[in-house]
Amino acid sequence: MSNCVITIVDQTEIQTQFGDNLLSSLNKHSLLSKSACRNGNCRICRCRLTQGVIDYQNKIPLALSDEDIEQGWILPCISTIVGDIQITDIKAVNPKKSNHK
Ligand code: FES
Repeated sequence: MSNCVITIVDQTEIQTQFGDNLLSSLNKHSLLSKSACRNGNCRICRCRLTQGVIDYQNKIPLALSDEDIEQGWILPCISTIVGDIQITDIKAVNPKKSNHK
């Protein structure tokens, strides 16, 4: 497996693996709420992708409108890491922790 980097704009950078789920990767570092549907329906996990791509692997981001998608919003719970990405507007569980590199 190859390493990938998730950069959270103005906050931190975390290491993950190709094929990992984005929400799980963020949760491992206490960067996102755990209270979520995890199937693309509630949008509580949403964040904006500002660089790179994710793969929904045939899952449908039902909680996002076409306008949301145009604006870069993604659903980490159904997002698979396929390379280095940069994200912003995440709902931090512990903002203090997420300010450290
Ligand atoms: S956790 Fe509900 S849409 Fe992601």
